[in-house]
Order: sequence, then structure tokens, then C-alpha cells
Amino acid sequence: MASAVISIASASPSASLSMHDSHKGKPRLGSRNLSFNKEGSNPFPNIKSSGRVSMVAAVNVSRFEGIPMAPPDPILGVSEAFRADTNEVKLNLGVGAYRTEDLQPYVLNVVKKAENLMLERGENKEYLPIEGLAAFNRATAELLLGADNPVLKQQRVATVQGLSGTGSLRLGAALIERYFPGAKVLISSPTWGNHKNIFNDAKVPWSEYRYYDPKTVGLDFEGMISDIKRVLGACKMCLIYAGSIVSYGWQHLKDLLCYFMDVLTTQLVLIQPLSSGRKLLTVIQKKNLIPFFDVAYQGFASGSLDEDASSVRLFVARGMEVLVAQSYSKNLGLYAERVGAMNVVSSSAEAAARVKSQLKRLARPMYSNPPVHGARIVANVVGDPTLFSEWKAEMEMMAGRIKNVRQQLYDSLRAKDKSGKDWSFILKQIGMFSYTGLSKTQSDNMTNKWHVYMTKDGRISLAGLSLAKCEYLAEAIIDSFHNVN
Ligand SMILES: Cc1ncc(COP(=O)(O)O)c(C=O)c1O
Repeated sequence: MASAVISIASASPSASLSMHDSHKGKPRLGSRNLSFNKEGSNPFPNIKSSGRVSMVAAVNVSRFEGIPMAPPDPILGVSEAFRADTNEVKLNLGVGAYRTEDLQPYVLNVVKKAENLMLERGENKEYLPIEGLAAFNRATAELLLGADNPVLKQQRVATVQGLSGTGSLRLGAALIERYFPGAKVLISSPTWGNHKNIFNDAKVPWSEYRYYDPKTVGLDFEGMISDIKRVLGACKMCLIYAGSIVSYGWQHLKDLLCYFMDVLTTQLVLIQPLSSGRKLLTVIQKKNLIPFFDVAYQGFASGSLDEDASSVRLFVARGMEVLVAQSYSKNLGLYAERVGAMNVVSSSAEAAARVKSQLKRLARPMYSNPPVHGARIVANVVGDPTLFSEWKAEMEMMAGRIKNVRQQLYDSLRAKDKSGKDWSFILKQIGMFSYTGLSKTQSDNMTNKWHVYMTKDGRISLAGLSLAKCEYLAEAIIDSFHNVN
């Protein structure tokens, strides 16, 4: 491990610390037998602040003593625990990442081809503008809205390349925080765990509404509507966070992920997949709400890019202003490239230009400008008709494998469980994930006894499952369901 000393050029707690390698017999950072003062305690409070104090010394009590250990992330922490498990039967169904039938990560062929093209062209690594790669922004808005959508020609869409889905959502949240101060988000229970973190860190308050019914392992439509009505009772306008469906989707009509915001009373409501999309749309429109879609799985639910963007297009076609965060982590397998976008469809080109200017203003101090590599991949794949159709075929293949696994899991559960329990809810859900209906304790049993790693809300990623492992998983689910309270 490299040793270092801290050179302190100011005595104040906000002193700037610079680290230097130390190979000259200077005291080492973390040294146990060296201290600043006789008591051997934290030296900093004792430093006189008269004038500029300059010293080189080792510390054995950290300035960061007050920082507590953070708990592991509920989703990514599952992967860490999985890696630490040495049992061969282990299965990671926590994170939503596509795996092959051999449970290996998958790099799409079109991605490899696009990267080869990029290499041949010898493209440089200059900074992108704050709003990102122009070719990517064009392609991503067209993929989302349809290339011939009039709002594009009318220049009513402000698109800014973001740091994948998460970073794009965060940018949208920052826009809400700045221009709808005090807005409150109502979030479905459950939701993707990071939604709450994103709004928390953006200082946009949120609360939850009923969404999931553990009895049916399906949508609690009545509960959801009644909670939303209650929250929206005083609302004049809402921001909707609607989007791809998929991660929590139930196969009812058009599912939507929606967040509502009452701009006038500054209430924000976040809604997850809704079954009665059109009915909801009408309510939202009557209440003058702004939808905010989270499109993290376009193409993964149905296998069709157009089909999975239909809820967004429906709202736009009704003349609504919408916010849409996009991600290419799942549908192009670009998880680590962090490529996505924040789109705002406005009612005029002028409003779109103003919104875009503010998105850029928000992005500049956060991360300055986005990464180029993934954006170029997307632009190359979408911009080349051959690669584009190859991508669609690969996406259909991935979505098809997940559908097969879902069917196989259901068949195995039905064949192995003699109790007569109805497992058909598995087939009613769509997309990458499935709720098993298992409680937290039952989910713990899945991990502790069966080495199946999953989130504690009973959700499993079918993309991390193979046909060959379905029987094993079914046994684990049946045991946990019947034998653990
Ligand atoms: C619902 C939902 N939204 C957004 C994301 C964002 O993912 P990323 O930041 O990798 O694009 C995810 C990832 O799992 C998700 O499940």
C-alpha cells in the first residue's frame, strides 16, 4: 500500500489537504506511534489559527471520524454478497442485467460491430458539449418518439445526453427541484429502489401510494387509485413519471410508470405501472399534469422498440408536455458505458430551448459533459440501417429468452408444487423481472438456504435465470413459500 503524508497549509477545519508520496522518512499516514500532541488525540482542534500554519505530520485519528458506514445498496449489495458466496449452485437474480443461457454477461454483436467501425474511423476523445453527442441526441429522441413525430420537426423536444438512466433521472429531478420548488413526489410501493435515493439527493420530497397487492402478487389498482386521488385531491397539476413498464409491469392494458406533480400546490406523485393507461391519461390531462417517464427497458418488454415506447407517444400525441429519462444499459447491454438521455417535450420550441439551456446549466457543475463512447455506439447502431435491424433482432432474441424462462419457471412451479397454489401471476407479469410473492423472511431463506440472491421485496430478475436452473429455482421458491413464515 502506498504511504502518504498530509500537508496542511491552513488550520481551519476547511483546510485543503494535499497528499504526497513519502519515501523520505517522513511520518506516514495512519501511523500508530506518531501523533500531533501529547495526548495522542485528534490534533486539529489544537491548531492555532493565527496565520498560516504549515506542517507535515501523520494522523491516527481521521478527520472523517464523523462519517458513519453506509449500508450496502439493496440491489448492488446483492451482487456483492453473491460474489462472496462460493457455493456452485448460487444464482444472482438481484440486478437487472441480461445473461446468456450459460448465465454469462452478453455483449451484443451490433455493439462489437459499431465499436469496430469507431476504431476504423480513429475517432478522437475530445470533450463533448454539455448536452452530449448531437448524433446520439437526435437518434435517442427519434427512437423514443418515432422519427416522424411532429414534435421533433417543431423543435419542441429538449434532449440532453445524461449519465445513463440514473443520471438522466437525477437531471430531471434537479430541474424539478429548481423550477418547482417544494414539489412532492408520490412513489409507488414498491418501486425501483434508486428512485427514492434520486429524489432524496435532489431534495425533492416524496411519499408512497399503494401499488402492489401481496395477496394477488399483482397490481392493487383500487388502493393505488384511492391513494392517488387522496394525494391529488388538492392538486392542480401533476408531473407524471411514466415509462417503460417493464421492470414492475403487470400485463394489463398498457402499463405505465407514472409520477405526478401538482405544480400549483407543489405536490409530486410518482406512479409505477398503471393498468388503465388511457383512463389514467384522461385523468392526468384533466388535472393538467406533466408526465415524467422512466424508459429504462425500451424493447425489453415486448421485444419491440416502438411497442414499448407507445405509452410515451400516447401522452405526447394527446398534446401533453412530458419528461422522459432513457437508458441504454439494458436494451443495448451498455451497462458500464453510462449512456442515456433526459428529454423534455414542451408545448413550444421556445420553451424547449429554455428548458434545454437550464438542463445544460444543471449538468455543467454536476459532471460537466457526458462520456462519448457509449453515445457513439448508440448513434452508429441507430444510424446504420443494417446494424439497426440487427439490433432489433438481438433484442427480440433477448426478450424471447426471458419470456421462455418465465414460462419454464411457471411450468416447474406448477409441476412441483402439489398444494394447488395458483402461480399464474408469474405469467401475468412482463419484462425482465418478476415478483415471486415471497416475503422478506422467505427471500432470506432463498439466499441463506438455496443460495439464490434476490432483493428483499421478493423480486427476481428473470434475465439472470436459465432454462436449466428453473427447476432448482422452483424448488427453492416452493420451500420458502410453504415452509417459512
Ligand atoms: C426502473 C429503472 N429505471 C432506471 C434504471 C437506470 O439504470 P441505469 O442507470 O443503469 O441506466 C434502472 C436500472 O435498473 C431501472 O430498473
